[in-house]
Amino acid sequence: MAGVRPSAAIVLAAGAGTRMKSTTPKVLHEIGGLSLLGHALAAVGETNPESVAVVIRHGRDAVAAHLSQIAPDAVVADQDEVPGTGRAVECGLEALDRKSGGTIDGTILITSGDVPLVDGGTLRELLAAHAAGKGAATLLTTIVPDPTGYGRIVRDPATGEVATIVEHGDASEEELTIDEINAGLYAFDAPALRRALISLDRDNAQGEVYLTDVVARIREAGGHVRAIVSDDAQAVEGVNDRAQLAAAGAALNARILERWMDEGVTVQDPATTWVDVDVGLAADVTLLPGTQLKGRTSVATGAVIGPDTTLADVTVGEGASVVRSHGTEATIGAGAVVGPFSYLRPGTRLGEGGKIGAFVETKNADIGTGSKVPHLSYVGDATIGEHSNIGAGTIVVNYDGVTKHRTTVGSHVRIGSDNTLVAPVTVGDGAYTGAGSTIRRNVPPGALAYNDAPQQNREGWVANKRAGTPSADAAEESLNRADTTSGAETSVKKASGKKKTTEGTA
Ligand code: UD1
Ligand code: CA
Repeated sequence: MAGVRPSAAIVLAAGAGTRMKSTTPKVLHEIGGLSLLGHALAAVGETNPESVAVVIRHGRDAVAAHLSQIAPDAVVADQDEVPGTGRAVECGLEALDRKSGGTIDGTILITSGDVPLVDGGTLRELLAAHAAGKGAATLLTTIVPDPTGYGRIVRDPATGEVATIVEHGDASEEELTIDEINAGLYAFDAPALRRALISLDRDNAQGEVYLTDVVARIREAGGHVRAIVSDDAQAVEGVNDRAQLAAAGAALNARILERWMDEGVTVQDPATTWVDVDVGLAADVTLLPGTQLKGRTSVATGAVIGPDTTLADVTVGEGASVVRSHGTEATIGAGAVVGPFSYLRPGTRLGEGGKIGAFVETKNADIGTGSKVPHLSYVGDATIGEHSNIGAGTIVVNYDGVTKHRTTVGSHVRIGSDNTLVAPVTVGDGAYTGAGSTIRRNVPPGALAYNDAPQQNREGWVANKRAGTPSADAAEESLNRADTTSGAETSVKKASGKKKTTEGTA
């Protein structure tokens, strides 16, 4: 379906957003990993307009910077000091005309930067209805249980057309009872819109130039204004405060999860599972309670994520599992296992069948196929080959206080428990290191590296130096037991004092 292509779209995003009580401009607040403005622009983009203008004023520089990131082709239209949605549209039209070097004709689509759930399909329906009705304007309305704050739709009882829109603050007692509200989404015939805008004033409760006033002006000039009523009230609700931001975020998330469940994803607890708009999931992925998938995270078939896991911009391979963990900008290979309680920082790449286990932190770490970092480790700025094992409690010392250095561990390496690998250092293929080693020099392939000092045992030390403590009592009991069970074999006499043995020499 080709649809009806608008000559231009104007997205209104200049308002102060006072009710948000935020230093961040309202349209830059995010739901589903995308700004409210980003959602509005995505929907508008689906109608394929010839040009798009975004009207901005409050938090101008922040919004303009954001636009240059997400919609570099959009025309930035600065609203002047005259407030109101009507003035905003005038400023948008001026900017579009200036850009085109003429006067934009045809159909103008107008949407609000604070109505994030409306989708491209709804806007296409609005444009199709406008083209079919051949009127001067067509708007989208909906019926809501609580119309507080919205513009009310007053219909002409004879024709059913829209007679006027009355803003909440200007409505009579009777008009306040109307539950059909203006969604803030319009298709206008450009010349009719331009003529009506010129005649607007600020004679209303807010002292603003209301776009909604053009409806009555178009009627007075003999034009027809029609409305299509959306049955999806939730989708056209605006975000004006933090409670509505939360409600819109939850509604969006519920829609995203429903879509993924339709595609064959198991979501055990939709109430505690959050998935951003740009996340990609395959069929037969399982999301357990407390899972948050953000940014451009993608998960391949058969993988199980959660419970209680947050992944941002992480790629998870087929059949992998990630339990109670936190990851950012990382890649987890097929069949790999992560967690519980792992922290994967940017640049982590875990190979197929690999493991990052409990209380392990990784960063800029390439961990090859089948290699494992199972317990209590830090691996940063390191490359580990295939099928190597990093012993429990091993720390890669990547930072000398000034500069970060790299560590390279080969394939089929066995790093002992509680090692420190002081970068820059290389451990060759097939090498072993002893438990408790500090590896400061390169280890050749196949070598055993160790640097432990000989262990000293001072027998009877506790009885002498810590007499009367529970430790001394426990030792005495144990030595007495040994005396009675094996008699003369025990060389240690209780409280015998100074006897000292040295490992390897005794
Ligand atoms: C507006 C409508 C109301 C409708 C509601 C739907 C008007 C006068 N009222 O009310 O009928 O029911 O949306 O959500 O239009 N903006 C500008 N420049 C301005 C003022 C606002 O660009 O000077 C932008 C805002 O950033 C926002 C949009 O226009 O994205 C709507 O403005 P807002 O103040 O939120 O209007 P509402 O009171 O919600
Ligand atoms: Ca609003």
